[in-house]
Amino acid sequence: MTLDASVLDILQETDIVAARSRGKELARAMGFGMVDQTRIATGISELARNILQYARKGRIQLRSLSESGRAGLEIVAEDEGPGIPHINAVLDGTARSPRGLGLGILGTRRLMDEFEVRTEAGQGTRVRCVKWL
Ligand SMILES: Nc1ncnc2c1ncn2[C@@H]1O[C@H](COP(=O)(O)OP(=O)(O)OP(=O)(O)O)[C@@H](O)[C@H]1O
Ligand SMILES: [Mg+2]
Repeated sequence: MTLDASVLDILQETDIVAARSRGKELARAMGFGMVDQTRIATGISELARNILQYARKGRIQLRSLSESGRAGLEIVAEDEGPGIPHINAVLDGTARSPRGLGLGILGTRRLMDEFEVRTEAGQGTRVRCVKWL
C-alpha cells in the first residue's frame, strides 16, 4: 500500500538539494531517527547526483509504504540516460571510478535495506531502494 508519493524532477544542482531535504522531511515525519534520516538523505543525493552527472536529467520518486503493518520509505531514481553497461563491475566493487568518493551506488546500497538496479545500455537506469522503519 502506498500512503504518500511525490515525484521530483532532477534537472539541475538545486534539485539535488531539494530532493535530499524532501526525503529527510518525509523520513522524519514517518518516525525515522536522525541516523536513518541522514542515511536516506545521503542515498537520495547520491542517486540524484548520478542522474544529473551521467544522464543529465531524470526523476526521484519518494513514497511511504505500508506492508503487513511495517512502514518503509521507498526511493526510486529513474532516467532515460545512457545506462550503466558495467553495472556488474560497479556492484561487485571492481569498477573504480576515477573521481569516486567511495559512496555512490555501493554506498547507497549499504545504507538501505533493499536495493535493486535495472539498467540497459541506451535505455536508462532505474534504482529502487527501501528503508524500513
Ligand atoms: N544514472 C546513471 N546513468 C548512467 N551511468 C551511471 C548512472 N549512475 C551511475 N552510473 C555509472 O556508474 C558508475 C558508478 O556510480 P557511483 O555513483 O557508484 O560512482 P561515481 O559516480 O563514479 O563516484 P561517486 O558517486 O563516488 O562520486 C559511474 O561512474 C557511472 O559510470
Ligand atoms: Mg555517483
